[in-house]
Amino acid sequence: MGNKVTVVGAGNVGATCANVLAVRETASEVVLIDIKEGLAEGKILDMYQTATLLDFDTNIVGVTNDYSKTAGSDVVVITSGVPRKPGMTREELIGVNAGIVKSVVENVLKYSPDAIIIMISNPMDTMTYLASKISGLPKNKIFGMGGALDSSRFKCYLSKSLEANSNEIEGMVIGGHGDTTMIPLVSKATYKGIPVSEFADEETLKKVVADTMVGGATLTSLLGTSAWYAPGAAGAYVVEAILKDQKKVIPSCVALDGEYGQKDICIGVPAVIGKNGVEKILEIPLPDEEKELFAKSADAVRKTNDVLKEIDIL
Ligand code: APR
Repeated sequence: MGNKVTVVGAGNVGATCANVLAVRETASEVVLIDIKEGLAEGKILDMYQTATLLDFDTNIVGVTNDYSKTAGSDVVVITSGVPRKPGMTREELIGVNAGIVKSVVENVLKYSPDAIIIMISNPMDTMTYLASKISGLPKNKIFGMGGALDSSRFKCYLSKSLEANSNEIEGMVIGGHGDTTMIPLVSKATYKGIPVSEFADEETLKKVVADTMVGGATLTSLLGTSAWYAPGAAGAYVVEAILKDQKKVIPSCVALDGEYGQKDICIGVPAVIGKNGVEKILEIPLPDEEKELFAKSADAVRKTNDVLKEIDIL
């Protein structure tokens, strides 16, 4: 407690993230800000009316475009932008979302120069790269949330197919946060510390990996827009790791400087998250097949990053 968090974008993901932070009392103050007149105010008023029902004391504030109200935030979560529609990839959002992210990051830093910034807007790896370049912030203070969500989906699919309690499953997804770029690390997934390959055959595990990779797209086609409960909760989970200095290992999209053989890119790797944001990148040994997948994933993310130059935003 005693901390301030701003969530930019009061849409599905941002409002869910703010709601989880408020109800769990992760921060003492949560500011939700949106460009659309009245939206953040309305959602916060609605949330406030659950305070006596759910018994929370978080000070929650909704504002339209007034960044002075976000001043002095310890953590800022950026979800502003357009979500994908059925049939769209996350990468197709780049043109619109790059412009939004640029102006939002500049506004945020004007009032909260010391904040740790978490990017959620898609295509997340490229938006994190853009935000990192334009902000000039050190890599521990600006990173993307994708791995927390993808790993959570991976663990859910694993628990279903193993008929196991999902809290007894460990699993990580690294690489890009895209349907074809993410890498659910089967080699590291365990049930009660025992490799999942002891409990499921190769074909079953292949299906778990495939389901995880299109986890977001499956929801987009069911919902008509992209998902929000798990993305919002995953954002709040990362904020909590920072504010409570939990030092949790959370696959996060971080600027790499030689780690995993990569430079000048932001991509998902296992990271220790604590009060300083990304406190450490864990370089874990990977089998050759997963190493190769990581290199391919980085190539694909780099191609999307190149679009930033084509549209003249970097
Ligand atoms: N400043 C603040 N808010 C903005 C801005 C801006 N410049 N531009 C757009 N927004 C707001 C919109 O008004 C909208 O309320 O961002 C919000 C986005 O909400 P949704 O359309 O509901 O989208 P959501 O599903 O929350 O997804 C947001 O997260 O997971 C990603 O792919 C997803 O990029 C998308 C982002």
